[in-house]
Amino acid sequence: MIALTTTSIAWILLVVVTAGFIVYAVLNIRSAREELGSEIELAPNRKEYYDDETLEGPRLERVQLLGVLLLIISVVGLPLYWVFEPARQAGAVEAKEEIFVEWGQRLFAPTAEGGFNCAGCHGGYAGGGGEAAWNVTNSTTGEVQAVNWKAPALNTIFSRFDEDEVRFILVYGRPFSPMSPWGVEGGGPMNSQQIDTLISYLWSIQVEREDCGPGEDDPQKCASGHIPSDIQDDIETRAWQLVNDGTYASYGEALFNLDLNSGAYSCARCHTPGWSWGDPGKTGQGAFGWNLTGGKAASAFPTEDDMITFIKNGSNYGAKYGIQGQGSGRMPGFGKMLTDEQITAIVEYVRGL
Ligand code: HEC
Ligand code: HEC
Repeated sequence: MIALTTTSIAWILLVVVTAGFIVYAVLNIRSAREELGSEIELAPNRKEYYDDETLEGPRLERVQLLGVLLLIISVVGLPLYWVFEPARQAGAVEAKEEIFVEWGQRLFAPTAEGGFNCAGCHGGYAGGGGEAAWNVTNSTTGEVQAVNWKAPALNTIFSRFDEDEVRFILVYGRPFSPMSPWGVEGGGPMNSQQIDTLISYLWSIQVEREDCGPGEDDPQKCASGHIPSDIQDDIETRAWQLVNDGTYASYGEALFNLDLNSGAYSCARCHTPGWSWGDPGKTGQGAFGWNLTGGKAASAFPTEDDMITFIKNGSNYGAKYGIQGQGSGRMPGFGKMLTDEQITAIVEYVRGL
């Protein structure tokens, strides 16, 4: 807004000054022509000028006043400009970000509203988790079966993946699932600008984190925060409920398989085949995420603490983990999602698989 009015004022000034200059030049040239051959009568130095009284009185004062005014403009105006400029620039950045979020929202919209239907599968504009129709082929019978595949909540996506990892997911999708590739590199319809605006939109729907450190004034982004305690409490309540009704034998097992927000907090959706469409095979036997059974996970990490650190941070592209592991960035970090107690319970369960 500010930028717009400033630009318009500058344009008006430019037009006025240019027009004035042209008028002055035209008049000057014309009067010069008229003077041709008649210097003697019209010589400017023969024109009678102000008398001393006026020249040293009102006229002098007028010129001095003009000088002072110009001085005030440069002394006050320039510093004022300097004072407001950073705010103007910040305002411009903010305005651009708002535009990005709005563009991203249009891409995120359901098909009926002209978008690419992220909202349709992931639980509406708020991205709270949903499901998508899909067909899977039974590997033993070869039968094709219509299923609903859980599409995890996206309003906590940046609490488990960083921006580059999310960009990778958006560009290449999860090609074995209803989550198709969206970026051109992955064979999808979106250019990198569209992927960026989608990422801006995803940031705008993140739940606000708690326990942000000093100086971290954006609760949707703060690095040291975690997802709201009431969500962590819901996770705890739900997990104990599943233990108490006999579905799972331990708190850790219940957390591993947790069904809240379409599996946004669970491990099973990646590590147990069939979990995402409600027909789980052997727990932890490996799907998109690796096989954790037969003591494999335990032997990949020398100590329980090493494994806890890995689960908290997730895997990072190219980085070493455990004894001889190298991350791809596709294993999410759970340090901002779950409490230390919850992660410890999961790790104890996983080491016993
Ligand atoms: C046809 C349904 C469908 C559409 C449309 C869709 N997704 Fe997905 N998406 C899914 C499913 C299902 C998964 C989970 C795949 C899996 O099990 O690994 C997923 C996974 C994701 C993930 C990874 C989440 C995680 O925690 O692992 C992100 C991020 C994501 N989708 C973003 C988007 C965005 C942004 C759009 C819109 C451009 C979109 N999706 C469109 C169904 C969909
Ligand atoms: C979005 C899918 C996804 C989710 C959710 C997920 N993982 Fe993983 N996990 C992976 C992938 C992929 C790898 C392989 C490492 C890599 O590619 O960086 C992996 C690797 C691992 C490993 C190392 C295995 C080895 O032998 O190297 C462990 C242990 C593990 N995950 C445990 C968990 C636990 C516990 C949870 C839940 C708190 C979890 N994972 C949730 C995808 C996932």
